[in-house]
Amino acid sequence: MPARLRRSVLAVPGSNPRMMEKAAASEADEVFLDLEDACAPLEKPAARAKVVEALRSHDWSGKTRVVRINQVTSQFAFDDIAEVVRGAGAGVDCIMVPKVRNAGDVAFVDRALLQLEAAEGLEPGSIGIEAQIEDAEGLMRAEEIAFASARLETLTYGPADFSASLQLPSLTVANDYNYPGDIFHYVLFKLAVAARAAGIQVIDGPYLLIRDVEGFRAAASRAAALGYDGKWVLHPGQIGPANEVFTPSQADFDKAARILEAYRHATEVERKGAVMMGDEMIDEASRKMAQQFYARGVAAGLTPTPEGQREPAVSSHEGGSGSPLTHPPAEVPATAE
Ligand code: GLV
Ligand code: MG
Repeated sequence: MPARLRRSVLAVPGSNPRMMEKAAASEADEVFLDLEDACAPLEKPAARAKVVEALRSHDWSGKTRVVRINQVTSQFAFDDIAEVVRGAGAGVDCIMVPKVRNAGDVAFVDRALLQLEAAEGLEPGSIGIEAQIEDAEGLMRAEEIAFASARLETLTYGPADFSASLQLPSLTVANDYNYPGDIFHYVLFKLAVAARAAGIQVIDGPYLLIRDVEGFRAAASRAAALGYDGKWVLHPGQIGPANEVFTPSQADFDKAARILEAYRHATEVERKGAVMMGDEMIDEASRKMAQQFYARGVAAGLTPTPEGQREPAVSSHEGGSGSPLTHPPAEVPATAE
């Protein structure tokens, strides 16, 4: 199955039918109905039926439908999975598992889903898993978690719980840490490496100051720069910025298309592995960079601008000279071939 679009991942309390209905009509790529921390403990058992009802009755077309269960070590998780899959069946795309600490946590959900799929007549393996990494042990074992199940579709960062787990001296998740650098760089980078090694997506967690849209945009841009596929959103005002930040600009997308075409011409027509495109040398590695970028744009609905109407790419170093394909200069190192 091609990777799902997850630029914006909207969190909604599973105990609130009105908010779930509004979420179905939103522009978010994914909505997750939460049985965990956004649900008061006293409301958790009753929220399962509300989540099932919401999944069955609203029009979720175009969205990835996810339910976040409680931690697998809690008294709720087993019944959460069973009630949701029995009630919603093929109406749920993925189960999100919070506070994953080791591969066994994921394996438990994997096997439970296997049993339920068999009992409900669903295709085995059809329900995916999203694993939230949000404590010290989970981060330490991110590599084994990323490979724990063929159902795994994402590693997702949980900065609020992670801050508590690490005993950080902070009371919110924003951009105002008293630290000379990006306090979460190591976490975000480590999760990205583990996820990409396993061939799955990587998603950043929430930004809690919901009225600080520019702060949200800055946090999302930081994750996007590390190759993240998307970020949680807690409020409708964060959805548009998330969708924008995690979609390539049209100019960069056009440049990716141009690299692919130039490289195809170089290798197939000129039989050369390294050529100049403007001031830039391109080779097979450039093709790979362009390919993943192009695929991301296509998934977000972009199409290449017709030749003659193109803008120069914003991050381009080629001086905006269209697509002049020239031969590599004599000094191009042999290793580039
Ligand atoms: C999300 O679950 C978080 O803890 O940040
Ligand atoms: Mg959490």
